Amino acid sequence: MDRLKGLILSGGRGTRLRPITHTSAKQLVPVANRPVLFYGIQAMAEAGIDEIAIIIAPETGAEIRAAAGDGSRFGVRLTYITQDQPAGLAHAVLTAEPFLGADPFVMYLGDNLLQGGITDLVAAFAANRPDALILLTPVSDPQHYGVAELRDGSVVALAEKPPQPATDLALVGVYMFTPVIHDAARAIAPSARGELEITDAIQHLVDRGLRVEPHIVQGWWKDTGRLDDMLEANRLILDTIATKLDGELVGSDVHGRVVIEPGARLERCTVRGPAIIGAGARLTDCYVGPYTAVGERCTIERAEVEHSILLADSSVVGLEGRMESSLLGRNVRIGRTDHQPRAYRFMVGDNSEIGIL
Ligand code: DAU
Repeated sequence: MDRLKGLILSGGRGTRLRPITHTSAKQLVPVANRPVLFYGIQAMAEAGIDEIAIIIAPETGAEIRAAAGDGSRFGVRLTYITQDQPAGLAHAVLTAEPFLGADPFVMYLGDNLLQGGITDLVAAFAANRPDALILLTPVSDPQHYGVAELRDGSVVALAEKPPQPATDLALVGVYMFTPVIHDAARAIAPSARGELEITDAIQHLVDRGLRVEPHIVQGWWKDTGRLDDMLEANRLILDTIATKLDGELVGSDVHGRVVIEPGARLERCTVRGPAIIGAGARLTDCYVGPYTAVGERCTIERAEVEHSILLADSSVVGLEGRMESSLLGRNVRIGRTDHQPRAYRFMVGDNSEIGIL
């Protein structure tokens, strides 16, 4: 089989993670202190795919380019392709056609996380040589995903976010294609949401009698497009970390699997893992509970934080109640104001959510 190329989709709008994604790409929101996107690049690198294009949007492209660079740190070559508007996943494929040419490729949605990587799937694709290979997994809310119907182990029908799903088998955001997908993407019309759906392009392959091989995902899979999924992805990745204490611990206790990155300083703190504390963070008189990822240069003082993600440069100071299941953006300040009048004072961006005791 010809060499596989990689295509990672990091365009789109990220409306469901606002306000975080007002100012930054959703594919760069960190899971266990690493941008979601990096897990996809790494999965491709591990599967031996070293020529990868990343689809970017005009608004967030520069930021993605700055974060992932030329790919050398992953051992791959990264090319960036701007998609002028988020016209759908199949439109993204067509935008990348000059890069992909006649080569088979793996397409990976930049906000997806797949346990166990893609090495086995790439091997199955090479061995069985189907026209396309799709990944499926049972979910409790199939109406939010592409949904597949199988008969005798073959794909017979696919639907994008059907209100009444025929099965609970969701399309996972990792696909393997031969170049026949380009003509299929050209043949379909935009969906009700105005996008050229990859789901419809794959249905087109099925309708033409081409072979679309389904694979049921064995490990976990997360589409990190929503807050709960993001926290869950953070939990699943933190569950796999090994203890590494590089920062400075002063009168502090660390239990379970905890990573403390270089330059972080913890004074009179208790950290109960799995948790990660980013480089340069300052933690004083606080408790950090399981499934928490504290970003670089964050401050936590006289507060308790659990099952949360704090992006870089944020601070949480002097809270009476424990903060949990929260996602703080960059440079967010949450603190107690002691001067009169004693009142709640907020400066909060559009589409934010705050729960108070
Ligand atoms: O996560 C799996 C689901 O992903 C599948 O089950 C669905 O069948 C598939 O359509 C897709 O659904 P979403 O609605 O979740 O896709 P989303 O708009 O979030 O886009 C997925 C990724 O692709 C995301 O990283 C943004 C990027 N993207 C999206 C569009 C619409 C692009 O690069 N260009 C685009 O035009």
